[in-house]
Amino acid sequence: MTATEQLKAEHKAIRTALILLDILRNKIESEGVADIEKLERLAEFFSIFADKCHHGKEENMLFPELERVGIPRENGPIGVMLAEHELGRDYIRIINESIKSYKANPDSPVLEKMIEAIKGYIDLLEQHIYKENNVLFVIADMNLSDETQKELFEKFEEFELNEIGPQKHEELHKMLNEVKHELLGKAKILDVRDIPPVQRHTFILEEFDKLNPSDSFILVNDHDPKPLYYQFQAEKEGKFDWEYISSGPTIWSIKITKKN
Ligand SMILES: [Fe+2]
Ligand SMILES: [Fe+2]
Repeated sequence: MTATEQLKAEHKAIRTALILLDILRNKIESEGVADIEKLERLAEFFSIFADKCHHGKEENMLFPELERVGIPRENGPIGVMLAEHELGRDYIRIINESIKSYKANPDSPVLEKMIEAIKGYIDLLEQHIYKENNVLFVIADMNLSDETQKELFEKFEEFELNEIGPQKHEELHKMLNEVKHELLGKAKILDVRDIPPVQRHTFILEEFDKLNPSDSFILVNDHDPKPLYYQFQAEKEGKFDWEYISSGPTIWSIKITKKN
């Protein structure tokens, strides 16, 4: 695995955590109560996995290496990425503070602040990850030799070990899976955001056909998939349930169940 492949794999885990965070945010908005216990676990995942480890690897190793091969920091992509990491830290700080205030006083109007910070954080990180996957890492792959990628990858492993110790990475992944399971049961996440739009409907309908009766999947998209709903109504009338579990402004998650 190359250094950039490793970072992209981490982006995938971060995006899964963002989907779960958005579902929790939606629950706060619809029920007026925050699932603090799950929010705390996700906040820990973002603080340690996303910020300390992942952003740490980029800031301490990848970005300096890119500067060495001539990619500018000031007024260039690296400067933008660094500024966005800082913004992300601000959002996480606000989310952690509002969790604390809510625990001290659940009636306090802190939920509004929490919702806004979660929305801002999700939007920021989604855009940030998109830019890294599609611009910065493409530049990195073109400019870094195989040997440098290998060296960076090894340094990443060492960095993580020094920062969080040998077990923490696995523990954080396990925690993320537990939150996912508690929120969604055995329904798998069908994230179609990276599939070309023209192929999405066919793919989703094929996945629906594979479901056993009364099983579900969680469709995740970057817009409200209304046209897909009409297609389901036309082709699968009476055979499906469609339930929004988060509805924008950045992520839409819909639980689609095959009826008995
Ligand atoms: Fe980054
Ligand atoms: Fe990243």
